[in-house]
Amino acid sequence: MTDVVEQDVAEQGIVGAQGKAASATGRAPASRSRRGFLGMSGAAIAGAALGQFLPGIPNAFAKEAPSSTAVLAPSAQAPVRLNYNENALGMAPAAQRAATASIAHSNRYPFAHMGKLQLLVATHHKVTPESVLFTPGSSDAIRASVLAHATPDTQLVIPELTYGDGALYAGFYDLAINKVPSSREDWSFKISDMQQAVADHAGPSIVYLVNPNNPTSTIISSDALYAWVNNSRADTLFIIDEAYAEFVNDPAFRSADSLVSGGARNVLVLKTFSKIHAMAGLRVGYAVGDAERLEKVSHFVEDDSMTLSYPGVMAATASMQSPEFLVHSKQSNDESRAIFTAALDELGWEYLPGQTNFVFHRISTPLKEFQTAMKERHVLIGRAFPPADGWCRMSLGTPEEMHYVSAVLREMKAKGVV
Ligand SMILES: Cc1ncc(COP(=O)(O)O)c(C=O)c1O
Repeated sequence: MTDVVEQDVAEQGIVGAQGKAASATGRAPASRSRRGFLGMSGAAIAGAALGQFLPGIPNAFAKEAPSSTAVLAPSAQAPVRLNYNENALGMAPAAQRAATASIAHSNRYPFAHMGKLQLLVATHHKVTPESVLFTPGSSDAIRASVLAHATPDTQLVIPELTYGDGALYAGFYDLAINKVPSSREDWSFKISDMQQAVADHAGPSIVYLVNPNNPTSTIISSDALYAWVNNSRADTLFIIDEAYAEFVNDPAFRSADSLVSGGARNVLVLKTFSKIHAMAGLRVGYAVGDAERLEKVSHFVEDDSMTLSYPGVMAATASMQSPEFLVHSKQSNDESRAIFTAALDELGWEYLPGQTNFVFHRISTPLKEFQTAMKERHVLIGRAFPPADGWCRMSLGTPEEMHYVSAVLREMKAKGVV
């Protein structure tokens, strides 16, 4: 939620400059480009669209073979959207069909279909159905989990640089917020510092850990996290937000769901259909946790049999049964990351070892200027994440989109824009 609201506001500001700046680059109108590019590969499109700005510079990125031959012709009306960590592939075909078919039945509540989705999700996490609580997106699971545990002496403990919703909701409910410092070099933080913050506080603590983290895209070692949970006080609640877990390659990460299935009572694992399942607009998320604790959280969520929309339930059910789409989605994301980080390597821009569908990288100009220059080239990028000045969070689109972005970056470098 924080991402969307803040970025929308930021984008409004840039829209005004768009027309002027776009014509200053002398780019062809999008409609003409589109016809001209019909039948070309993603890399060829990116190269052709921007090659005119690159005299004498070897096009290293053009060597990359795109995974499909889709035509890419972004425009002001249809930009490349790399600002909200969405999944550019679109939903699994079976999920799209299920959502479409469900419209005809959406005069009804989806009660009859909730049980199947709950069972599929519970089986996936090796827990009982009572250990799964659905929410309209995981944002609402963050809100309800914090609210259900908010007492005047409770503190929220978070790393200094992380996803904003934990602090946002804790602020709504007047909780003290204890931010553990992060390194200025790579934005890492120490679990031992978080443990100290909990130990130093007399009352209960809510530890909100996003793993892998947003915006850094890096993981917290699961061994360290498991060890902490297994030795924690009962009045320490761990909210482990795993919105991006399915994109991770690093074997040092494993889901915290096995803490729950292993009997931990002070852990809530938050999951979403918005990312690897590509269902951000359908608003399906859930919490996995001890059944009794979830019952308490459920009092702060709309009646949990009515929380989700009919299309959301049907699409999520179909997506859970489309493992091949999830494999494809991850492979595509890995390919996109490789394309984009190759471009960053060529620019000499440092980036953190990403484990998600976005990359956190250094930039050579102030973020606002970079956002504007990218928007002029029809690419929307991440918002500011203070205090990380000089860094940018770029979501990963399709491989074709990342070839386009790579060419954009090379063009900007050639012109001295970055
Ligand atoms: C770490 C994290 N948690 C939760 C969310 C919220 O996702 P949703 O409410 O769409 O499930 C996001 C969205 O970007 C996120 O980055």
